[in-house]
Amino acid sequence: MHNFCFILQNYSYYVHHSQQTLDKIAAICRELYYLVNMFNCQARARIAKIFMSTACDDKNQSRRHIGKLFNDIAPTYDRLNHLLSLNIDTYWRKKMTDLLPRGESFWILDVATGTADVGLTIDSQRNRCDSIVGVDIAENMLRLAREKIAQKPRRSSISLVGGSATELPFANASFDIATLSFGLRNFSDVAGGLREINRILKPGGNLIVLEFSLPQNRVVRTMYLFYFRRILPLLGGAISGCPYAYSYLNKTAEAFPYGRRLVDIFAPCGYSVSSYTPLSLGIATLYVATK
Ligand SMILES: C[S@@+](CC[C@H](N)C(=O)[O-])C[C@H]1O[C@@H](n2cnc3c(N)ncnc32)[C@H](O)[C@@H]1O
Repeated sequence: MHNFCFILQNYSYYVHHSQQTLDKIAAICRELYYLVNMFNCQARARIAKIFMSTACDDKNQSRRHIGKLFNDIAPTYDRLNHLLSLNIDTYWRKKMTDLLPRGESFWILDVATGTADVGLTIDSQRNRCDSIVGVDIAENMLRLAREKIAQKPRRSSISLVGGSATELPFANASFDIATLSFGLRNFSDVAGGLREINRILKPGGNLIVLEFSLPQNRVVRTMYLFYFRRILPLLGGAISGCPYAYSYLNKTAEAFPYGRRLVDIFAPCGYSVSSYTPLSLGIATLYVATK
């Protein structure tokens, strides 16, 4: 009997304490659930705001949102670009600048120049007197571009201008070549941007565009999309401190037309596309168009 009472006492003590522990775990779980939910709601609300503004008529407002987004992520932009793409982005930009015609010196406009990686690649590749102008709406990206240019040992031929691709601050037919890498899908008005670039190109001038696309091979595409949807926004958000920006960026990359569908958008904007070449199993595509 004594033993029975002892076991019963121990049992109720154990049950009581287990219950307390379980209550505590449940409270922590509720707290975590609330935090995750709150974070998700905020992130979703910010993404929805950007998407809605992209779709709405007020293109200026949408442009301001995109400008703010890139101003926010500017400090970690280069580092994340190289890290998340395993440095393949450097190879893509080199492939793009390899397409520039050889020979004379040219007036080149790098639209949506960001931190000027395309301009710097052209500048380092070509040993002649090109005039390269980079234009972008995000002042923080341009500030970093200026710092990178200033660090170069020799005087570069790059100058930078703040402005939008949809209202370029240049006279008609002032450039021989325009380059545009990973900028087109961010334009508040894609066709408007393409038409405006067409305006500043000389007749016969080239527009070279580098933009994300999706691999054709189903296995590769599934693996790539897993990385793109699950890992990339997580890493990008954590390192940049702007989760909404990386969710937005990867959604636009997935939704944006590529290949033949994008070529169909070029034609009504005054271009004939001579080639579009998938790179790295189709993760990016390089388009060459002529005015
Ligand atoms: C993904 S970054 C690409 C930057 C750079 N071209 C590169 O290859 O790293 C996109 C850039 O497009 C710029 N951008 C977006 N919309 C723009 C517009 N309407 N006019 C000019 N720049 C724009 C952003 O500010 C940002 O710097």
